[in-house]
Amino acid sequence: MIALGCDHGGFELMQEVKAHLTQKGIEFMDFGTDSAEATDYPIYAKRVARAVLSGQCDRGILICGTGIGISITANRFKGIRCALCHDVFSAEATRQHNDANILAMGGRVVGPGLALMIVDTFLSTPFSNATRHQNRIRLMETDEI
Ligand code: RB5
Repeated sequence: MIALGCDHGGFELMQEVKAHLTQKGIEFMDFGTDSAEATDYPIYAKRVARAVLSGQCDRGILICGTGIGISITANRFKGIRCALCHDVFSAEATRQHNDANILAMGGRVVGPGLALMIVDTFLSTPFSNATRHQNRIRLMETDEI
């Protein structure tokens, strides 16, 4: 189950993402926004972060105008690793290396063609499980150093 959230800057692109997921038979929960009217991106970042942390959803996708505000907000939650990706290489690498659990994109940065390739890559790439990456994620999450 994928948690989706966007503000007005990401609304149009999110419609494309939803249609794409539906066509692929991938289940999602839509945490808003539900129109192109101006709103505040932290609302949706927080809803999606909480849905992922609670286990209600496996991963999340967040879209605002740049992807920046919505990813910064999501990353304030311990246990969330939200990766802002505007290319396929980064989407693959952040799954393999960082076990990112939320993908962020900017609806004013990428077009739908590239965005959907990024989504597909993010959702289909497994974490490498390599010890060095596990260690780095643990260091990220603790006060150990
Ligand atoms: C909204 O205008 C815009 O600031 C927002 O979508 C996002 O880009 C913030 O980081």
